[in-house]
Amino acid sequence: MITKEDIDRIFDAARIEEVVGDYVALKKRGANLIGLCPFHDEKTPSFYVSPAKGICKCFGCGKGGNSVNFLMEKEKMTYPDALRYLAKKYSIEITEQEQSPEQIQSNNDRESLFVVSSFAQKHFSENLYNTDEGKSVGLGYFKERGFREDIIQKFQLGYSINHRSAFSDIAMATGHKMEYLVKAGLTIEYRNDREHENETETNEQNQEVKYSDRFWGRVMFPIHNISGRVIAFGGRTLRTDTKKIAKYINSPETEIYHKSDVLYGVYFAKKEIVSQDNCFLVEGYTDVISMHQAGIENVVASSGTSLTHGQIKLIRRFTNNITILYDGDSAGIKASFRGIDLILEEGLNVKVLLFPDGDDPDSYSKKVSSEELKDFIKNNSKDFISFKTNLLMNEVKNDPIKKAGLIKDIVESIALIPEAIYRSVYVKECSRIMDVEEHVLLNELNKIRSKKYNEKRNQTSETAEQQQTVDEFVLEEKKEHSIADAEHQERDIIRILINYGNKEVRVDSQEEDGTPIEIGVSVAYLLIHELQNDNIVLENLLYNSIYNEFVAQLENNFIPDYNFFIAHENSAIASLTVDLMSSPYSLSNWEQHSIYITMEEDILKKSVLNAVYALKSRRLEMMIYDIQKRLKENPPEEELIQLMQTQHQLLEAKKEFNALLGRIIVK
Ligand code: CTP
Ligand code: MN
Repeated sequence: MITKEDIDRIFDAARIEEVVGDYVALKKRGANLIGLCPFHDEKTPSFYVSPAKGICKCFGCGKGGNSVNFLMEKEKMTYPDALRYLAKKYSIEITEQEQSPEQIQSNNDRESLFVVSSFAQKHFSENLYNTDEGKSVGLGYFKERGFREDIIQKFQLGYSINHRSAFSDIAMATGHKMEYLVKAGLTIEYRNDREHENETETNEQNQEVKYSDRFWGRVMFPIHNISGRVIAFGGRTLRTDTKKIAKYINSPETEIYHKSDVLYGVYFAKKEIVSQDNCFLVEGYTDVISMHQAGIENVVASSGTSLTHGQIKLIRRFTNNITILYDGDSAGIKASFRGIDLILEEGLNVKVLLFPDGDDPDSYSKKVSSEELKDFIKNNSKDFISFKTNLLMNEVKNDPIKKAGLIKDIVESIALIPEAIYRSVYVKECSRIMDVEEHVLLNELNKIRSKKYNEKRNQTSETAEQQQTVDEFVLEEKKEHSIADAEHQERDIIRILINYGNKEVRVDSQEEDGTPIEIGVSVAYLLIHELQNDNIVLENLLYNSIYNEFVAQLENNFIPDYNFFIAHENSAIASLTVDLMSSPYSLSNWEQHSIYITMEEDILKKSVLNAVYALKSRRLEMMIYDIQKRLKENPPEEELIQLMQTQHQLLEAKKEFNALLGRIIVK
């Protein structure tokens, strides 16, 4: 039980922006803060934090509340556990008894895993300082590697005694349940079988469940989640006599440790990642630790797994910039190529630095001063194109075929970048470095993009998640193909009006009593009706005057066609009409032209709706852009909330339009 007074003190001390700030980078907007929602994956911030009110809220998924609610939701903590967590965070002494075995049992499952993991961490650290074996073997090893005392403590390093059940025995004697020790991956349960024949007597009892520690005789690296709680371990063997045993053993997947979403060191790095606006990505535990010791703290490792999308998304909560720092051996090169592509695909910027062959950040940092290390990283980090080029240029030198291969390789990476603007920047860069003309690269790039686009579209995806990635990709493509150019969109609307305004298309409608029926309407009616529904006015004055003419004539039940506009008194309108009759498909003869017309007529309704939705989607995008501009000007709270709500609605509407666009692609 936590007393009422203590609860009050905890609520007084807890600062919502600090509690939430443990999970996401927050930006100040006036008296409030906004950031990417930690509850769902998003690229535009819809999460809002009000320090004055002590609350947070996501306008996208609706989750939020005060500090305690936030932790309960985010960490799946119980109410008392959230309070205990905050008490610890703010160093508030609470008058609560040590947890009894009964209390430990009554914790919910997930929390119990945190409890045993934290117990294990303390146990391993104590071994390091308070046992002879720990001191001589474990601490001795760390000291020999040059780890400073403060760094050993900061990372809560430890040692597991070289006896196969030392940890589990103590844990159970202190009241921790075997069930949770196993679920946390610390203890391994097994039944007697041949494998263990030699170690146990063969009697009736040998069917009983036996257990052993997962980690024994290893130095221990606890793995912390983003808010600093221990969720798993990596253990390094100190034996050099045998190659048979794995250098590192890591905790298995558990309810609190999802490897693909965890980065080693993120808790210690996040603050510095935000302030440097860059994250160094290294390979191992010891790289992270040595970099910290050298004063570089914005560093994480994907220890125990190869880099995943989930891990990059985690970094994206704090920065858009990643620098890969890997060993220069062939494994490191391979891993960095893979890393580059994954990072580009997530829409982040990536730089790379390979240490001289055989060195990793850990070993290199021991050879130079902290300043030299910082300079080395600063001067040798390369953007991914220069990186790939430098690496492969030697092989390529005078071999045009190899050079073409390298260019293709680089363009394939560029093709992964979701944003068109960034792709074009890199195309320029590649053109300069490789001395190839830009349009050649663009050509290749478009080939790869449309191949992928078609693959994704044709892919019949089984899971909802796969479908979502496909949708997102289609969305991005549509955005570029149809939304990028407002002028082009308005022109297309006018082109359709002039060429096909009086053609009939079938649309779904309703009788007065609600019975659905299909009716025929003119293209002009359908198009103008759709645009007027949303009060859309064309920005281009010339296009708009043609559009208005249509609206006016339609009211007289007359649908003008190109003959009407070719003869128009306004010569600009007349000459535009001529252009539109033949563009954008400048075909060489009328025969071909009429073939094309028949084709477009077949899919006329699709063309009309496509043009309309593309225009609407673009309009929404501009409104969202305006909101984001205003948000940056630190509006007062009421307006901020209003803006974020509107922004969310607009984003939703845009998603709908884009989905419609995706479905009615004109082939
Ligand atoms: N690793 C692992 N299992 C192994 C080997 C490596 O999980 N059998 C992971 C560890 O997270 C390790 C990282 O891969 O930190 C990099 O491996 P390596 O370079 O071999 O280890 P270092 O971190 O350099 O460790 P040390 O310097 O102690 O050799
Ligand atoms: Mn190493």
